[in-house]
Order: sequence, then C-alpha cells, then structure tokens
Amino acid sequence: MKFPFDELTPNQLSFAERDERYRQLHDWSEPTYRHNSGLRMVWRYDDVRELMEAASPGISNAKSLEPLVGFGRIAANPRAVGHLCRHLLPLPAKATADLTDDILHKRVWDTLAGPGGHFTVPRAQRPQRIKDLTEHFHHALGTERDVSDRTLDVTSLSIDYAARIVGAAVGLPPADWPHVAIWSGAQSGLLGRRMRGRELAEAVGGLGRLFTVSADAIASGGRDRTDGLPGRLCAARIPRRVAVSAVANSLAAGVHTVSGSIQQGLQRLLNNPDRQWWHLLADEASTAHVAAKVLQLDPGLVAWKRHVVDSLTLRSGTALSPGPVLVMCAAANRDPRAFPNPLDLHGAGKLPLTFGFGKHVCPGKQLAQLAVEVFLRELHALAPAARLVPARQRTRARPSDLLFSGADIVIVTG
Ligand code: HEM
Repeated sequence: MKFPFDELTPNQLSFAERDERYRQLHDWSEPTYRHNSGLRMVWRYDDVRELMEAASPGISNAKSLEPLVGFGRIAANPRAVGHLCRHLLPLPAKATADLTDDILHKRVWDTLAGPGGHFTVPRAQRPQRIKDLTEHFHHALGTERDVSDRTLDVTSLSIDYAARIVGAAVGLPPADWPHVAIWSGAQSGLLGRRMRGRELAEAVGGLGRLFTVSADAIASGGRDRTDGLPGRLCAARIPRRVAVSAVANSLAAGVHTVSGSIQQGLQRLLNNPDRQWWHLLADEASTAHVAAKVLQLDPGLVAWKRHVVDSLTLRSGTALSPGPVLVMCAAANRDPRAFPNPLDLHGAGKLPLTFGFGKHVCPGKQLAQLAVEVFLRELHALAPAARLVPARQRTRARPSDLLFSGADIVIVTG
C-alpha cells in the first residue's frame, strides 16, 4: 500500500477522503515516514505531543517559521529579493514560535495569553466577546456579499470574518483589516507550500507588508500606549524588533487557521446525510461541543515544523535522525491509541493537540475556539436549510500545503 500522505495533503482532500487516509495512516507499520519535501512525518499522539512540547534539547523550534522552499530559492528570485530588501532586512527578530530564548519568550507569551494577557478571554468577558464576534460575522456578510441569489461563498466569508477578528484583536486600524487575509496568506503559504516564480515573489511582498504594518503599529502603540497588542508589548518593555514580530506573527497565525477550520468543519456538517451535527447548532451548549469536535478533526492548521538537532529516541521508542520534522497534530487527534472513537461526537480521549502543547501552545486558542463557535452558530441561524453546492460545479483545485488546510465551500442558503 502507498503511504496515504505521500502525494496529497489534507488541503486537497474532502473530509471523507481525509477520514480514510488518516485511518490508513494510523495502520501504517512504521511510526515515521520520509516525505519527498525532505521533512520526516510523525503522527502518533505521544510522539506529536513530545515534539510539540520540545522540552528536550534534541528538539528545536528555531526553524519553525522558515519558508518551506528555503532562503536559496527566494534569493534566486529577483522580484522576491526586491521585496525582501525593501521590507524584510534586517531579517525579522524571533518572537514567538521560533524563539529559543525561554525567558524572553515567556515575557512575550504572557503578554499575549498569560492571566490578563491580550488574547485571554476571561469568563466574565465571554458574553461581550461573543457579541463582538457576532458583529464581525454580520459585517463580513453584509458588506462583502450578495446573498440575494441565495448562494453564499462560505470560504470567502470565513476568511473575511477571521481577518476582521484577528485585525481587531491585535488592534490594527479597521482600514487594514481587509488586507490582513492577504498578508496572513503570504506567511501561511511560505510556511506550508512549495511556491515558485511570481507566486513566491508576491508572498514575500505580502509578508513584507505584514512586517511594515506591524512596525507602524508598534511605533504608534509605543507613543499612545493604547490597550491594543502593540501598546501592551511596549508597556511590557519587549524589545522593539521582537514586539514587531510578535504583532506580525499574531496577525499571520489567526486567519487561515480559524477560517480553514470553519470551511472543513462545514464540509463535514453539511455532507452528513442526517446532518445531525449541523442541527445541533440550534442549541448553544451543543454548538460549543460541535465546534470543539471540528477543531479536533478538521483544524485549519494540520501540522507544524520542528527540527531534530541530534539523533533522538522519543519516549515511545520512535527513533529520529537529525533533520526537519513535520509534526502532524491533526493526525494525532485521530490516533486510536489516544481517541478510541475519534469520529464519534461524544467519543472520549486525551487532550487534542490542535493548538500545540507546552510553552509554545497557541496564545489565540480561546479566541479561535469562540470564533469558530460563533461563525457556525450564526451561519446555522441564517440558513438552517443550507445545502452545499456540489464540488464538481467548481473548477479551481486546491494547492498542496503541508501545514494549512481548508475547503471550497459554497452553499445555497434556503
Ligand atoms: C483554529 C485556529 C488556530 C490553530 C489551529 C492554531 C494553532 C497553533 C499551534 C499548533 C501553535 C503552536 C506552534 C508551536 O508550538 O511552535 C500556535 C502558536 C501560535 N498561535 Fe495559534 N492557532 C490558531 C489560532 C490563532 C489565533 C486566532 C491567534 C492570534 C490572534 C494565534 C496566534 C498564535 C501565536 C502568536 C503563536 C505562537 C506562540 C508561541 O510560540 O509563543 N493562533 N497556534
């Protein structure tokens, strides 16, 4: 049998195909696989948790944000080099996922998500956050879409919604929110896709804009000390270049992760013949449960990178030689050793690894969970009888992407 993710990535598969290939993956006799990208794939729950935690000196997070194609291909692309020189030199400081200075990292992370951190959603503020997210849904729906012909491009809506949420959460001016999706797509694409030519150059340009806007935000945050993220980072005396990267990485991290989860989740919810999970969205308590299950099975971020520095044997006995590793978090969330019935809505199991594990665990976790929940609930309220427009009526193929995953979802609203 061929390795189930040898040629195709989750981004190119329907939810049913993903279910089948993840099942085959967990039947695979070996615990790792050397992919043609040069990354070694790892998917078993215990191994993924240990690699994401990166507590041992043999596992490094230092290269987690390096472009998949490497700097060599960027250097060989004159237009990309132009963007690089204009916006990205000196190269951005490490601030979040790739920072190895644990003391500085803790100061940044705590500012983002420690008690009272910028993205933390305290219980008492939940109702207001839900109200804000609901408004973002309706703004995204109202200003950008014509639902009069009763079809709705949910993929595009979910990206606009997530870009508004993340732009607002970070504290960017509203005029910048629509661009956040493009800049964030640039960083996501560089991380998970083997881009070339014009596409590569445009992605480097988008990444450059992300850092320029973030530098502007830090400059004004430093002056005004507003309650946005830039002001908080300045108040916490995070060095300026590190603060710029923390803003840029937060803007980049939230959009395609949240929107991809929504898209893939809806593909499952609306495809199921009896649509049992979809109907549960009419009830508030059940919506949280369905959203959590969507984030376990179909997250918009399916894997993350680590680097093995020295030959290493993980606690399970899995041996890894030095080199880059693709840590498949979404696959781990279906490992039958950790989740006996992963596809069961009420199936028991361990903590899903959607948001990572350990000191780099996602600081946007609470916001992301709430954002997915509100989107699903609002869409169900808007179009309880929604039907999917079959995929064959659409043409564009989704690209291969080792890290990010979504789905092209168009619905008929009633
Ligand atoms: C469904 C949505 C999301 C998923 C699946 C997700 C997943 C993850 C994962 C797996 C990591 C760990 C990376 C590592 O260990 O190196 C991470 C880190 C991070 N996430 Fe998220 N994320 C989501 C949404 C968000 C949002 C909405 C934000 C901010 C608004 C955000 C900001 C960040 C940042 C800044 C980091 C780096 C943390 C650090 O290393 O200190 N994420 N995310």
